[in-house]
Amino acid sequence: MSDTATHLGSGKVRELYALDDDRLLLVASDRISTFDVVHPTPIPDKGRVLTGLSAFWFARTKDIVPNHLIALHDDGRSLECRRLEMLPVEVVVRGYLTGSGWKEYQRNGAVCGVALPQGLRDGSRLEPAIFTPATKEDQGHDENITFDDMCRRVGADTSQALRHRSLAIYDEARARAWERGLVLADTKFEFGRVDGVLTLIDEILSPDSSRYWGREEYEAGRLESFDKQFARDWLDRSGWNHEPPAPALPDEVIARTRERYLEAMRRLTGAGA
Ligand SMILES: Nc1ncnc2c1ncn2[C@@H]1O[C@H](COP(=O)(O)OP(=O)(O)OP(=O)(O)O)[C@@H](O)[C@H]1O
Ligand SMILES: [Mg+2]
Repeated sequence: MSDTATHLGSGKVRELYALDDDRLLLVASDRISTFDVVHPTPIPDKGRVLTGLSAFWFARTKDIVPNHLIALHDDGRSLECRRLEMLPVEVVVRGYLTGSGWKEYQRNGAVCGVALPQGLRDGSRLEPAIFTPATKEDQGHDENITFDDMCRRVGADTSQALRHRSLAIYDEARARAWERGLVLADTKFEFGRVDGVLTLIDEILSPDSSRYWGREEYEAGRLESFDKQFARDWLDRSGWNHEPPAPALPDEVIARTRERYLEAMRRLTGAGA
């Protein structure tokens, strides 16, 4: 990292630096959070996996939509990117009904104003996938909004372009994940704009910005986080109430969780991570 980098902030998992007026450095640590709380015990190599997967997908999707990536640094965990004006929405695509989408569907048969057929269950595959935007909140949880709300916030043309491109990226990633033994249940994108051109920013299709399940478990009827399930199972047994501070994870849970991140990387990229 250059000597003149300015630390702009710390997320739960990443550190953000400004290299100069036009460039950012996004550094993924090995920190892990569950239920939005960070554990004191890191997962070795997790940051490298997150960054590696983002870089992999940025390269594969750049013909669908340009992105902010300038360079993946040698440490494997830092992405140098163009600093852009961010759009104030989180763009979520769901190809399986679960999480907040499932809750909303149970209340009113629709998610973000997209009506869905009756009789779906938690984990039902959605064909086609649906575009479900949310607000980007500094504090607390992002809130689901309808497409019309999104149009009012960022304009109709921009919203349509974002929907079209996000669904195209998701479809490509869902198909590849499935072939490789993973289910890409849903994913979140952030976009910025440079000289009027919509551009993908932040991280994409990493286990932190996406929900991945194992295909084998899915086909057996289980919806288990591919990467975090060992940690969640152990935490359930520990009786932790999901309020800070989060407990330290035992060595065995750390080792098995680390293996899951590396396995996700191997499956998706085909590389020996
Ligand atoms: N190219 C870019 N230009 C401008 N801002 C960007 C760019 N890429 C990412 N960002 C922003 O950088 C920030 C990265 O922060 P990060 O995701 O690590 O933490 P956070 O969003 O504050 O918290 P959380 O841990 O909940 O994700 C986000 O606000 C993201 O929108
Ligand atoms: Mg973030």
